[in-house]
Amino acid sequence: MNNLLKNFLFVCLVMGFVNVTAQTNKVITDPIDLRVAQLLSKMTLEEKIGQMNQYSNPYVQTGAGANSRQAQSFDQLIEDGKVGSFLNVLGANETRRLQEIAVEKSRLGIPLIFGYDVIHGFKTIFPVPLAEAASFDRSAMQQSARIAAVEAAANGLHWTFAPMVDVARDPRWGRIMEGAGEDVYLNEQAAIARVKGFQGDDLSQANTIAACAKHFAAYGASIAGRDYAAVDISEKTLREVIFPPFKAALDAGAATFMSAFNTINGVPASGNKWLLNDVLRDEWGFKGFVVSDWNSLGEMLAHGNVESNYEIGLQGVEAGVDMDMEGRIYLTEVTKLLNNKMITIEQIDEMVSRILRVKFQLGLFDDPYQYCDSKKQAELTMHPDHLKAAREIAKKTFVLLKNEKQLLPLPKNGKKIALIGPLAKDKDAPIGNWRGNAESNSAVSLLEGLQAAVGDRGEIIYAEGCKLVNNPIQNFFSHLDINTTDRSGFAEAVKAAEQADVVVMALGETAYMSGECRSYADISLKGLQAELLREIRKTGKPIVLALFNGRPMVLTDIIDQTDALLVCWLPGTESGHAIAEVIFGDYNPSGKLPASFPYHVGQVPVFYEQLNSGRPFEPNPEGFSTKYRDIPNEPLFAFGKGMSYTNFEYSGLQLSNSIMGMEDVLTVNVSVTNTGNYDGEEVVQLYIRDLVGKGMARPVMQLKGFEKVMIGKGETKLVQFQIRANDLAFVRLDGKWAPEAGEFLLMIGSSSDEILLKEKFVLKD
Ligand code: BGC
Repeated sequence: MNNLLKNFLFVCLVMGFVNVTAQTNKVITDPIDLRVAQLLSKMTLEEKIGQMNQYSNPYVQTGAGANSRQAQSFDQLIEDGKVGSFLNVLGANETRRLQEIAVEKSRLGIPLIFGYDVIHGFKTIFPVPLAEAASFDRSAMQQSARIAAVEAAANGLHWTFAPMVDVARDPRWGRIMEGAGEDVYLNEQAAIARVKGFQGDDLSQANTIAACAKHFAAYGASIAGRDYAAVDISEKTLREVIFPPFKAALDAGAATFMSAFNTINGVPASGNKWLLNDVLRDEWGFKGFVVSDWNSLGEMLAHGNVESNYEIGLQGVEAGVDMDMEGRIYLTEVTKLLNNKMITIEQIDEMVSRILRVKFQLGLFDDPYQYCDSKKQAELTMHPDHLKAAREIAKKTFVLLKNEKQLLPLPKNGKKIALIGPLAKDKDAPIGNWRGNAESNSAVSLLEGLQAAVGDRGEIIYAEGCKLVNNPIQNFFSHLDINTTDRSGFAEAVKAAEQADVVVMALGETAYMSGECRSYADISLKGLQAELLREIRKTGKPIVLALFNGRPMVLTDIIDQTDALLVCWLPGTESGHAIAEVIFGDYNPSGKLPASFPYHVGQVPVFYEQLNSGRPFEPNPEGFSTKYRDIPNEPLFAFGKGMSYTNFEYSGLQLSNSIMGMEDVLTVNVSVTNTGNYDGEEVVQLYIRDLVGKGMARPVMQLKGFEKVMIGKGETKLVQFQIRANDLAFVRLDGKWAPEAGEFLLMIGSSSDEILLKEKFVLKD
């Protein structure tokens, strides 16, 4: 260190601008780090452990296990400095009450941080995240997260356990609904948009909340799509498929990460030093804190990688799981571990510092009550602008997969529409799982939406067809199932269809058929729905299927029974209005599938980003090529697919150069013309194939860019992409994450299975 710098640091030190920690001799210059260090130096061990401990509101359980089931008052514990955070406590008044105890009655006045699962809205509910990914609209995803944050923050919350950025390639896994689906790039883009949306530009503002990238890592890759099952995965796949969306979330500024429930190659993610310390902190430079998933520390006993809470505590500290969500492990074990010199106080200080740092960033030390303002809560929760946005965003997420003889859009005038199905009048399914603080049955139903759109101009005849029933096994959340035995409504439904010009059927999944612990082996239409559809088909009336779903479904057996298929997902509060806009053509559908819809569940996992085989598929049934004997290799609907009421033609693909250096930017231009009769948006997709690896086989295609463009009818738009060598990086044979010189095929298409233009280019060393 030169003398000038030394003198400068000395002056700063004297003036209190920097601090040199006693233990590490590290010079601290960051003002927040300085405040953290000063506070830390005053804390007792008990208070430090308190910061590492998060309790759930005992009356709101979002996880399994008995720890917090007993109603108890936490007031004294807060006063004693034994609580760092709560989850599931919300509302301006209650958070203020608890915050007052922490700030005014505890010895050091350290504010609490209140976390909650704000996954697709707080009270104004947006489409489930998988649906939002189908919009391929970065600003829509960001706006939905922004509004969710505004409402959550006005309700006393500081922190959301979102976004979930788990790449999910198995639609049996119910939590596929919480993320952006099967593709790495789309998950990255969604992660960035959502983190920016939740956190805004400045975390200390009262309308921003800290994001949490979860579930680190590989939770979506559980064996056979069964929730919480083990994950067996190569480091290469972790680095190329699973990690990139987490890294993108981190680079976008995600303040926190959540460690996952699952084991990865035998080691629980929540006790995984390699994952959380070596990769997340040392390699990627993550400075925020890691919270465990709900009792994921405690669950190590069941995993069987440790035999006591003491050993769990050791693994948790060594891995750097800073905050224990409902495991209550650190409370009892940290002191013992320290006494036995199994861990050091420096380790604990580091963990606590990371938590305090986020509390400082949120502005909680400057104004601990800025989030608890009941006036703001009343003003902002379900603000009309939020509802408007929820409708706008929802309509962008619907995916049109079939439209025979241009059945859609339907005219509003003079037609009789039969609206049939168990989800037609249902106001709950559209809200979906992880619904924040939404009221049950608070969505605009499809019936209400169609009626509002048609008014007196036409007629809607409604029939339920088959009923929803209460599921007696499910007591965690009220849960509706589709009837499997009661056909008493069929006759009325058939009659409704007979009287109508066209039938809209509302079928699919109810709210809690996707989400946590909602894995299904059978992902086709449940109960009597397919049978009902077949009965209605016999009337010969044209059928539009409006599908409600939190996951890709297998529709192979029923697709022929429909003339049009609109995938509506679980669209949120404004569901019915948004769907009506698309059905009647006030909005031209523009969504694309974020995950493949299998032809048969036996294909799962089925996704487009495959390696080729040494025996690539060939149609000859006698040939020894990679294929099923009984079904096609391809999904029924591939990733990226989605139709419009208009047609788009692609032309004029131009690359700025056919050779690209490692530092160059390759500009790609393509023209897209709207040749149909409606204005519309198209999601132009750019895929790349690295034609020959140096010793390592490469996927047949990988999405590397997309642009969603509005094109008026008859208009042509120029769409531009930029590709950098870094976009082509992967884990090479030499183990390095880097691009590799060679020849690439660039493909532009409207779907992963509809490539319209191609061009080769060369990447040079
Ligand atoms: C889920 C997390 C969630 C947590 C808190 C867990 O069961 O896996 O995603 O954030 O509960 O509700």
